[in-house]
Amino acid sequence: MSAFPSGVDPHRFEAELRRLEEVSRFPEMPRNLFDEGPHLVTTPELPWGDAVREASVGAYLRFVHGETWITGGGAREMEAEVVGWLGGLMGAAAPAGFITSGGSESNMCAILTAKQRAGRRGGSVVFPDNGHYSLHKLCRMFDLDPIVVPAPRGRLDQVDPGAVEAAVRPDTIALIATAGTWAYGSVDPIAEMGAIAERHGLFLHVDAAFGGFILPFLERSGYDTALPDWDFRVPGVCSISADLHKNGMAPPPAGTLLFRDASLLASAKEICPPNGTMSGTRGAGPIAGAWAMAKLLGEPGYTAVSLKSMAMRDELVAGVRAVPGLDVHPGSRINMTLIHSRTLDLRPAAGQLRRRGWMFAARAVPGPVSLVVVPMPHNDGRIADFLRDLEECAASAPPLEGTTPAAETSREPVSSYGF
Ligand SMILES: Cc1ncc(COP(=O)(O)O)c(C=O)c1O
Repeated sequence: MSAFPSGVDPHRFEAELRRLEEVSRFPEMPRNLFDEGPHLVTTPELPWGDAVREASVGAYLRFVHGETWITGGGAREMEAEVVGWLGGLMGAAAPAGFITSGGSESNMCAILTAKQRAGRRGGSVVFPDNGHYSLHKLCRMFDLDPIVVPAPRGRLDQVDPGAVEAAVRPDTIALIATAGTWAYGSVDPIAEMGAIAERHGLFLHVDAAFGGFILPFLERSGYDTALPDWDFRVPGVCSISADLHKNGMAPPPAGTLLFRDASLLASAKEICPPNGTMSGTRGAGPIAGAWAMAKLLGEPGYTAVSLKSMAMRDELVAGVRAVPGLDVHPGSRINMTLIHSRTLDLRPAAGQLRRRGWMFAARAVPGPVSLVVVPMPHNDGRIADFLRDLEECAASAPPLEGTTPAAETSREPVSSYGF
């Protein structure tokens, strides 16, 4: 007899769960080069092995039945600890903020806060053409005009601050910059955009969904000594989003929205009561899992993860550039790697690589297809295999029809992850 009221046989249930795990491709994680990879998988190459992953899963499970209302005391303390630590690393003297479901929600909450501060209906938001599609989405949701600043010379990893300033209108309420663009990995000229925001009295939000959990560690460890200031050290920056479930390695869903100070958080709570997020009830499990990950990795752990990811990125870039016809888009300062070709049509190769079991995102910009590959520690030891398969698949790629690919433009109304 089944132990379950529905009568479902426990063995069949277990088999079904296993089948669904396989459909989700969990057992193949080391070949997952997609940006929001397995989040939790550590590697024996890192000194702590699986200890941090297990502690994070354990914390998640112990808080799995929690919510953020009556039994939310612990989760709220964890949230405050993560926000205080990360905001401090990013140069805020008294940071405030919250944990969200990820980068899209963080961007939404930031712009709702800007709207609340501006005290008006409608209006416009200015951002470079490399902004994530969630920026277009939030503009539609909140009835704001997206003013998209074209990339200079069609290079989406670059931003012309003069063009950003020229795009500001009397009804503009906010500028949005990105630190770690998808899929270029570039960092916008945030100091210049901060000065523009200050000159025009605008809210400046930095979308560091991707870069927020790697840039501080690359900078502080001395890996990148030339990174211009991009965080709260820039006076005009009001808020920064940084995703725990991307380079933060935490179990999804978990992002952060950090404000420079408590008065900005108060505005967020005015427009999105009670907590500033898009949600009412929030699960405490993801908050606990993220808190454990951040607390146990800390600055030394994230530095090791960041350096490991960049070592793999560097191996990947060198390998791709050695394959005839292939190139890596310039401008990335993080582990985001955009593989493309000016001479080959990589569409069949992308399909073949997927059939060989590799997981990655593909996009139509630069056209006709580019592969977005984001090495993280769980891919340890797999870069050489990927490069071998890439070279084999590219060898049979047909030549690109016509001349030089058109200038890049990312105006994409929906996700370009390619699935
Ligand atoms: C720069 C950037 N912003 C926002 C997001 C959205 O994050 P999420 O999918 O967690 O909502 C992403 C996702 O890749 C991103 O790369």
